[in-house]
Amino acid sequence: MIREKTIVLGVTGSIAAYKAVELASKLTQEGARVNVVMTTSAQEFVTPMTFRTVTQQPVVTEMFDIASEISAAHIALAERADVVVIAPATANVMAKLACGIADDMLCCTVLATKAPVIVAPAMHANMYENHATQENVSKLKARGFTFVGPAYGRLAGGASGLGRFAEIGEILGTIHQVLGRGGDLAGRRIAVSAGGTREPIDPARVIGNRSSGKMGYAIAEAARDRGAYVVLVSAPTALNPPVGMEVVQVETTIQMRDAIVNATAQADALIMAAAPADFRPVATAESKIKRKGETITLELVENPDILGEVRSDLARVGFAAESENVVENATEKLKRKNLDLIAANDITATDSGFDVDTNKVVLIDRDGNVEDLPLLSKYEVANRILDKVVELLPKESV
Ligand code: CTP
Repeated sequence: MIREKTIVLGVTGSIAAYKAVELASKLTQEGARVNVVMTTSAQEFVTPMTFRTVTQQPVVTEMFDIASEISAAHIALAERADVVVIAPATANVMAKLACGIADDMLCCTVLATKAPVIVAPAMHANMYENHATQENVSKLKARGFTFVGPAYGRLAGGASGLGRFAEIGEILGTIHQVLGRGGDLAGRRIAVSAGGTREPIDPARVIGNRSSGKMGYAIAEAARDRGAYVVLVSAPTALNPPVGMEVVQVETTIQMRDAIVNATAQADALIMAAAPADFRPVATAESKIKRKGETITLELVENPDILGEVRSDLARVGFAAESENVVENATEKLKRKNLDLIAANDITATDSGFDVDTNKVVLIDRDGNVEDLPLLSKYEVANRILDKVVELLPKESV
């Protein structure tokens, strides 16, 4: 989605300007053309050369340094932009934009663009909470600007408060989401499950599995980046909750079943990438089970099959983590669970399966078509699955 897009990155005079270098670098690595526009005070914190080097693009710093080309320059940038991101945004730039003041290149560009604008504020908490700033935030939101952050946390100077520059991952997620509006899943609701559920044995111990949640999170993000409204039902993982979607955190298979039944009430598709525990202890001990130097027996009962409990009139995609006879076992599972598509992976293959960023899957549909994908990033696998989901969805409601 971001590849070949033009992102105008406005950098203003906050200490967080140094973090914008990482943002510019990540966007460039993802294939975007990043045109940085720096205010004069931003240059007190980071040099234009730094941005020029990481983006391999000229950096715009001053409105009147190329007098003859100036009037064209900001209009050209404004027109070329697919999105304008002001990160970090000071109270000053927000005040100027709220009032329509165009006395620097960044404000001129924002006023002249028809592209969506994302603002990531960074400032002292008192400044952010000040009525004047809050009024400006409200005005800009009312004009359709998307805000990301600020977060609560440690601020420059040592104090803590609301004013901290959002995490780069959160800003990147917001850019993906905004650029994905109008994608081929726009207007669709997609429910995705991720992670391995845990069944409590006692207050300290659980039965779990090795699912990292990475595949499910990649699917949720890819669906968001294609314009879908996403509900991600997540079992515990070490991953940060993605931005731009509804995230429902659950622990056990029964909780996941309830959340999925809710999430699919209105959904067009369900993609079950989670590894729900198939069994749970018959009873959870109220206090921690102590060692007594003897063998103990844990009695387990079967959990519900979540896919078996959801509406059957939505597109349903399952996963099959197999260690042998991958295609045969997955095909049997597709039929048994009455799925439209199954993504089967050989968990014994190198760089495929649990806790890695790549996956090697075979996609099998209801008609028996088998597509053996090469080793890809989980985000790319997610997009290949979503290509099939788009085909499965009824065209009339597009
Ligand atoms: N699944 C589910 N509910 C469960 C267990 C699994 O909906 N209680 C879903 C998984 O999310 C996955 C698909 O079913 O999309 C296949 O999961 P898998 O664990 O491979 O299948 P099982 O039904 O558990 O079969 P088995 O463990 O016997 O291979």
